[in-house]
Amino acid sequence: MKIRSSFIWALLALVSLPALRADYMDIVVGDRTVIQRGVIRGEDSARMIAVGTPCDFNYAFDAQNCTPVMVWQGEFLDFQGETNGRGGTGSVILGNRQPLHTAIAPLRIANADPSPNELRFRGYRRDATTGAPTFLFEVDGVSVEQTISSPAPDVVVLNLNFPTPGTHRRFYHLDAEKHASVQLSDGLSWNRPGVIEISAQQANASVTIHLEPQTTPFTRKVPFLDGPKLYRAYCVACHSTDGVKLIGPSFKNLMGDERHVTRDGREQTLNIDKAYLRESIVSPQAAIVKGYEAVPMADFSTILTKDQLDRLVDYLAGL
Ligand code: HEC
Repeated sequence: MKIRSSFIWALLALVSLPALRADYMDIVVGDRTVIQRGVIRGEDSARMIAVGTPCDFNYAFDAQNCTPVMVWQGEFLDFQGETNGRGGTGSVILGNRQPLHTAIAPLRIANADPSPNELRFRGYRRDATTGAPTFLFEVDGVSVEQTISSPAPDVVVLNLNFPTPGTHRRFYHLDAEKHASVQLSDGLSWNRPGVIEISAQQANASVTIHLEPQTTPFTRKVPFLDGPKLYRAYCVACHSTDGVKLIGPSFKNLMGDERHVTRDGREQTLNIDKAYLRESIVSPQAAIVKGYEAVPMADFSTILTKDQLDRLVDYLAGL
């Protein structure tokens, strides 16, 4: 677990300067995924495993029921409640809770309906480079490995891996109607609404959930103002910094570069300056870059604070 200096400072303040006792203690995620076990305020299970990734996608896995239960975007956890000796009121998540609407113990073997007879949580394995966990558990004797990831805001991919060939069909309970949409990988189908069927031989099952977009913008107690971090939090899914084209143009050498855009239905050529960068972030549909019309960029005017926007523009201008 990597804890940045702000956390150490909060800890020092707490221990040595009671008068300056911090109101909160954020666990700040650095370059590697952070894992924090314990109680999360507002969640029933006492065996929660909170996971914070460097791209500000966070989720909680309930080890008791062997399932991810919710995700949140932004900063990770304030675990002051776990440390203040008031009986562990639980860590507080620093973002908007977005439930995944999986059932309790959502994976069932052979028969979709009864709850599993035996559920065994076997811990997790961590990726050597990123620190990302793969959760290991057994449902009625069937070994399962699960990962949870987010390739874009409001998109969550649940991946189930079955290391040993199966003899029974498996079923996964997920209330798709509570989400904007749910896509299934090959070999998966809807047995009935809310129940995904995975064939016995299928070694890999992947479920892509498009969450209902958040209605309340994510707010932090202290909005972070770090350019690279803002980039990783909000832009990395669509923009590279090394010249590679993703869904949007790369951020490499933007300033002064020539752009062909469509503005008010008319084509225009411009040279990128800070005003254009700013406009591209807060009103992305004002000028659409030629060749990138397929996927519209999200409007960040309600997501970023004014200071965050300034920092982001400075960061982009310096790349
Ligand atoms: C869902 C994908 C997506 C995300 C997320 C996204 N963008 Fe974009 N962005 C695009 C697309 C597509 C374009 C090109 C079309 C257009 O001009 O709107 C674009 C264009 C831009 C441009 C103009 C680039 C140029 O070469 O002219 C800037 C600047 C920009 N985005 C900044 C950002 C920033 C900063 C963030 C994060 C806060 C961000 N974008 C997040 C998809 C995205």
